[in-house]
Amino acid sequence: MTSQTLREARKYEEASEKMIKQEERPDFHLSVRTGWMNDPNGFSYYNGQYHLFYQYNPYAPRWDSMHWGHAVTKDFLHWDYLPAALAPDEAYDRDGCFSGSALTLPDGRQLLMYTGVLRERKENGEHCDTQTQCLAVGDGVDYEKCAGNPVLEKNDIPEGSSVHDFRDPKMWQAEDGTYCCVVGNRPADGSGQILLYTSPDGFQWKFKSVLAANNNRFGKMWECPDFFRLDGKWVLLTSPQDMLPEGFEYHNGNGTLCLIGEYDEETGKFTEQHNQAIDYGIDFYAPQTVLTPDGRRVMIGWMQNWDACSLRSPEEKWFGQMSLPRELFLKGGRLYQRPVRELDEMRRNKVEYHNVTFSDVISLNGIRGRKVDMELTLRPAEGEKLYQKFALRFAQDEKYQTAVSFRPRESVLKVDRKFSGSRRAIIHQRRSLVNSTNGELKLRVILDRFSVEVFVNDGEQVMTATMYTDQSADGISFFADGTVNMDVVKYDLVS
Ligand code: FRU
Repeated sequence: MTSQTLREARKYEEASEKMIKQEERPDFHLSVRTGWMNDPNGFSYYNGQYHLFYQYNPYAPRWDSMHWGHAVTKDFLHWDYLPAALAPDEAYDRDGCFSGSALTLPDGRQLLMYTGVLRERKENGEHCDTQTQCLAVGDGVDYEKCAGNPVLEKNDIPEGSSVHDFRDPKMWQAEDGTYCCVVGNRPADGSGQILLYTSPDGFQWKFKSVLAANNNRFGKMWECPDFFRLDGKWVLLTSPQDMLPEGFEYHNGNGTLCLIGEYDEETGKFTEQHNQAIDYGIDFYAPQTVLTPDGRRVMIGWMQNWDACSLRSPEEKWFGQMSLPRELFLKGGRLYQRPVRELDEMRRNKVEYHNVTFSDVISLNGIRGRKVDMELTLRPAEGEKLYQKFALRFAQDEKYQTAVSFRPRESVLKVDRKFSGSRRAIIHQRRSLVNSTNGELKLRVILDRFSVEVFVNDGEQVMTATMYTDQSADGISFFADGTVNMDVVKYDLVS
């Protein structure tokens, strides 16, 4: 039975989707059907296709009244919208269906777990949330909330931990068939922790352990955890709020964190061996992963930064897009990412240049566009001293440009959207320390109308940023202070 609230949302989204032209959206990145989108939810493979739900306010391009939007894809690049899956329509979730996850039950139904929010509004304008975990079961289109909701609440969290910050369950099925889920929470020390729960059937859940505790090391509350085995290790992804920069890491305030280590399934404890940011650019948050039938761990993130939402003007018809889905792997103890291999199928019109030696500014015939996949290999020119700086400029015309620049002496790569046409001075650039010796660097740059994703050194780091520059600014140029020698292979991406 769909509720009145959900029926209204479905009617509204169908009608208002038609007001947005295809060219006003990203081409192969999923954007919100209408209104506002944040976190990816319920990323899963179900009945022959990938399902992606998302945090969704259909009614306006700003955060409010969280629903779950819904889209499906077979290749991670061509998406079809389905009707909104969840609406805040029950006594236990009337102030929002917050983030969560999905899995397939043995009887073939799809199980969703999400955070139900009740908001108490105080007279002084402040508010106080109570957050619980709730279930819904469905057939890939329609979902029914379970009678036993909420299934995890205040009695299921450790003494002293907060019911106000208890959210974003990510479920998976362990090898022995047990269902597990991790939930973000705030312990008494005010920072973050990840709680682990287990269930024999997906419906009855029991507290198992504190999987990992922040102890105020990485920001405060840990949102949107994901936990999985990858290349012989265990990986915990989470999005901490209020992070402090450490060197070149963790510059985003609300940032992303990847912990790699060991997991003791008996005790339910994770032991960290390595930490790093997940994305080193401006716009990436709350990622979630899916395991594909061919064994790939694919991650997608909200391609946005909470602190930069007003980059886009409030009159726009939509707000929010997802990152490119990325295949994850470990190398040298670090997390690596590469665009899903399905993207190669969209490559057309190859243009290549080898050993281009240049100083100052050049553009190259056939290299322009806003839907582009481009590989650059940089090195110093033979017999010349090390160059000072290299820059790739794109989304460019006489007035605008966004740039990725590299200073080999400092090994610093920077993404800069100051001239992307935004009237707000909101987080315009981010710098990252990259691995480079003697000015050598490999970049794969992917543009899709309103975004850039830069994969550095075959996926060792990724820098992601959105830009809403008018599409007519489609120039691309190269700059060198000193002399650079470069190979370029460029494709148009055609869906
Ligand atoms: C992360 C987050 C989640 C929450 C959701 C609400 O971006 O704050 O913790 O479930 O967004 O929309």
